[in-house]
Amino acid sequence: MKEFLAPIPVMEKMVEKLQQLYSDHDKKAEGIIQFHLKHNKENIDCFIQADYENLKLNEGIAKSPTVTIKSTFYNWLDLAGGKLNPVFGVMSGKLKFKGDTSFFKVLPRKSLNGSVLVPEDPVTKFEKNPSKYWKKPRKVIVLNASPRGQNGYTDFYLEPFIEGMKKKTVVEVVHFNKYQIKPCTGCFSCWMNTPGKCKYHENDDFHVLAEKMFEADLIVYAFPIYADGMPGVLKNYFDRSVSRAYPYMINGMKRVRHPRRFINKNHSMVIFSICGFFEMINFEPVRAYFKALAHNRHIPIVGEIYRTTAVGLYGNPFTYKKLNNIFYALENAGEQIIDSGKIKRKTKRIITQKVVGKKQDLVKINEWWNEKKSSKDYNY
Ligand SMILES: Cc1cc2nc3c(=O)[nH]c(=O)nc-3n(C[C@H](O)[C@H](O)[C@H](O)COP(=O)(O)O)c2cc1C
Repeated sequence: MKEFLAPIPVMEKMVEKLQQLYSDHDKKAEGIIQFHLKHNKENIDCFIQADYENLKLNEGIAKSPTVTIKSTFYNWLDLAGGKLNPVFGVMSGKLKFKGDTSFFKVLPRKSLNGSVLVPEDPVTKFEKNPSKYWKKPRKVIVLNASPRGQNGYTDFYLEPFIEGMKKKTVVEVVHFNKYQIKPCTGCFSCWMNTPGKCKYHENDDFHVLAEKMFEADLIVYAFPIYADGMPGVLKNYFDRSVSRAYPYMINGMKRVRHPRRFINKNHSMVIFSICGFFEMINFEPVRAYFKALAHNRHIPIVGEIYRTTAVGLYGNPFTYKKLNNIFYALENAGEQIIDSGKIKRKTKRIITQKVVGKKQDLVKINEWWNEKKSSKDYNY
């Protein structure tokens, strides 16, 4: 279990970091910096012993320190972090020094960051404005992440969209339920021990699927809403995909993110989701999730297709005409997304047209589920 660090372990961590920088430091010297710090009404006495090789933290009071600092623990941390100006600290009484204050130069100030080679992966024009810099995708992969695969409604509503895209480019459909992907355990082996490779690299299908997905320029993530989000299996895939990023942080669009290990500059994605309930608001959680994922994966979203009442529309003879119009619009959307990297508003309006859940509709749905009880009709 992680424990909240007390001041001395915090000082030890700080001196450990400083020691890493010390070998290149040009102001090594022999001497002692004595600290008399106050924290939560407790006195913390410790000192850093410096010689031409090492910086070492000791608890207690040294015999003849080169310089002594008296302050609260927080003020010392602000001073060390460059947030508290030493002159202002003394004048405001926050810091008290005794002895040779120039000896503080023995503590390196340069951060390690200067020497770490962080891979470049800047924001691209395409990422900012995909439809302006749109190139017809050479290959599209449709990832159907419904656990029911070809027996599900996700597959049913995907079909016309795929037909539309197939008129324009190469499209491959991948059924997620054909792949075994273990949940991520958060061990970061993929960042620390075997960079880019998950500890499960040999024992499940993540790597194979990720390599396949990398081939495509356009990825269609298709999934039903499960418990107000995506099915867990798809989230497992995204968690495991962290192995394909570097641990470092770089600036993205108004927020930081990780540089990618494998870069396809033409990568873009379409979100395709269906649900059982009537209202578009049921897609808000996944919309927010994919907006964040798009930024952190450097892959712009070029299209979003959301269909409510997916089961109800199918089973209800009185919505047959609507279903036909929706299918026709889905095929058009498939063509449009390949041609221009966007779906016309009119087409989207037809696809997402409202089906108002009237009282009698709820009655019918509940009767339907009642009939299904103990039917074992898993292909409902
Ligand atoms: C475990 C589970 C959870 C679901 N949760 C929701 C939900 O939160 N909101 C919703 O509108 N529909 C929900 N649904 C309905 C599905 O989105 C709907 O049945 C969809 O058609 C399933 O897609 P499929 O046929 O491709 O498997 C859920 C279905 C399942 C099996």
